[in-house]
Amino acid sequence: MNRKEYHFVFDVYDSINELSKSDASLLHEARAVTKNAYAPYSNFNVAAVAQLSNGEIVAGTNQENASYPVGICAERVMLSIVSSLHPTASINTIAIAYNNLNGESNQPVSPCGMCRQAFAEYEIRANKSFRLILSGMEGEVFVIDKASQLLPLSFSL
Ligand code: THU
Repeated sequence: MNRKEYHFVFDVYDSINELSKSDASLLHEARAVTKNAYAPYSNFNVAAVAQLSNGEIVAGTNQENASYPVGICAERVMLSIVSSLHPTASINTIAIAYNNLNGESNQPVSPCGMCRQAFAEYEIRANKSFRLILSGMEGEVFVIDKASQLLPLSFSL
């Protein structure tokens, strides 16, 4: 029997003010774009904004539905737009932010398992990893070097 270890290291910043200019700008955009979410059932507005290799910035927001499982997370809305409109570009960095209209928005967002799986396959498909910047509307910011680090042993065919 071999016991294997998975080691995960990420950066924690006290606030957006500690980020590089380009990372701060992307997170700022994500925070602003949360207003475009359609989340009348959860009141939890999320935005994911990607900075692409061709210089384009692509944003997605969560889109809910009265039939709850129909709703889509901001991250997968954004990935679908990237894939559909910029099929030859790759993703460099994604900033994800949320505005919880029912409470605080000062802890970094943690993408759901389904979005982690989508990120993992997107990295495989593009043969390139991308960074994640995770935050709320204020407070700490997590920066993760490779999105797939969030889902060890992810499923693939
Ligand atoms: N949600 C996202 O869009 N991304 C995340 O990373 C976490 C959750 C959405 C799904 C749903 O519309 C709302 O947030 C509350 O779960």
